[in-house]
Amino acid sequence: MQDNTTPLSFTPVKIGPILLRNRFIKSATNEGMAKKAIVSKGLAQFHERIAAGGAALSTVAYCATSPDGRTFVDQAVLDDASAADFRALTDGVHKHGAAASAQITHAGSFTFLDHATLRTSRPLSSSGGFNKVGVMSRRWLKKKMTVTDMEAMTAEFVGAAVRAREAGFDAVELHMGHGYLLSQFLSRIYNKRWDAYGGSIEKRLKFPREVLGRVLDAVGKDVAVVVKYSMTDGDKGNSIEDGVAIARAIAADGAHLAVLSNGLNVESITAMFGSSFPQSNRGTVNNPIIALGMWIQSLSEPKNVVFRENYLRELALRVRASTDMPLAYLGGIQSIEGVEQAIADGFDCVALGRALVHDPGFVNKLKSGEVRKSACTACNRCVTMMYTPGGTSCVEGKPGDAKLNTIRAGAAA
Ligand SMILES: Cc1cc2nc3c(=O)[nH]c(=O)nc-3n(C[C@H](O)[C@H](O)[C@H](O)COP(=O)(O)O)c2cc1C
Ligand code: SF4
Repeated sequence: MQDNTTPLSFTPVKIGPILLRNRFIKSATNEGMAKKAIVSKGLAQFHERIAAGGAALSTVAYCATSPDGRTFVDQAVLDDASAADFRALTDGVHKHGAAASAQITHAGSFTFLDHATLRTSRPLSSSGGFNKVGVMSRRWLKKKMTVTDMEAMTAEFVGAAVRAREAGFDAVELHMGHGYLLSQFLSRIYNKRWDAYGGSIEKRLKFPREVLGRVLDAVGKDVAVVVKYSMTDGDKGNSIEDGVAIARAIAADGAHLAVLSNGLNVESITAMFGSSFPQSNRGTVNNPIIALGMWIQSLSEPKNVVFRENYLRELALRVRASTDMPLAYLGGIQSIEGVEQAIADGFDCVALGRALVHDPGFVNKLKSGEVRKSACTACNRCVTMMYTPGGTSCVEGKPGDAKLNTIRAGAAA
């Protein structure tokens, strides 16, 4: 029975086959706590803190479909070797009454892995030719995927989703945004094909929809199948009309929830974060390839983007008006007013990144009334913390424990 005294944001919601205890989702924030692909105690504790802090669903960022699917070496892979450690992580989240989601990702050409680490000489993508990200890792060319490559890739996504279910995850989130492989098919900036998989948005959707359909068939009865995608590519590339078409297509396919992000890692990072990036950072980036990449990127980034709460509201409302499927509002949720606005706008859930990096206990504090607004300043300095031994943390708090990030989550205490 509905408790009329509880604000809607703190009431349960059904997402596909699972019931979330409230509307708060911790969005994926590349934790940098899977050093050399080890799912560590540091990573498990990070998500346990989010669960203990009141969120209903904690998303484990970047669980790669295969070792080649990583952007960085320090990212987890959903393979047999990580199963017991992922199980320890999901057990820790469940202990606090929350659910866990695995963000399943393949980088495509957005990878900094070098020749020695990657099995394929050219990173895969929707289209071949010059690979701007590969300038740093000296992998200058990318490979246009063939239909056979796509079939193999679909099987990788399905295999990863099945392993996630076996490891106790309640949801899987297919990463179709930000410029990773599936986004490289959706985005008109990357997809230059003129076959059945490129051209109109309907054709650019074909491969990501094949992956979604097969993942839904394989695990959709047991776990929630979530799609995170970019509503636009920023100023150039996909427009909000493309973003609406994507929502309609994945709704027709039966996706259980869409998390509405924006922008691309390389071309439009401020469209994703709604605020500029600082030139200096407390975090030291040890990897010279990544450091060079960040410097090159910073040259073209707008320097004066001023953060405002719910900065993606206008775009997300366009998507909300176009479909009945469950949607999570994402982007600049920082206060109880921001949460209530999103729920009043008709979104089923809210997804929070930085506010929960700043304080994993934020949801419980909002609920009790202890705080009404996060003290996160949207400075984005936590983003480069992922490259440090301690992993992602707010620069205003305590850094992560570097040692814990090297110990398997499933190892005896
Ligand atoms: C440190 C950090 C790492 C992130 N890593 C990821 C990631 O791995 N995958 C992803 O989909 N989004 C990632 N994001 C983006 C967030 O999920 C979210 O889309 C963005 O921070 C905007 O939400 P917010 O305003 O609530 O922070 C990251 C954000 C931060 C701050
Ligand atoms: S470093 Fe801290 S204050 Fe700055 S954006 Fe990240 S969480 Fe917020």
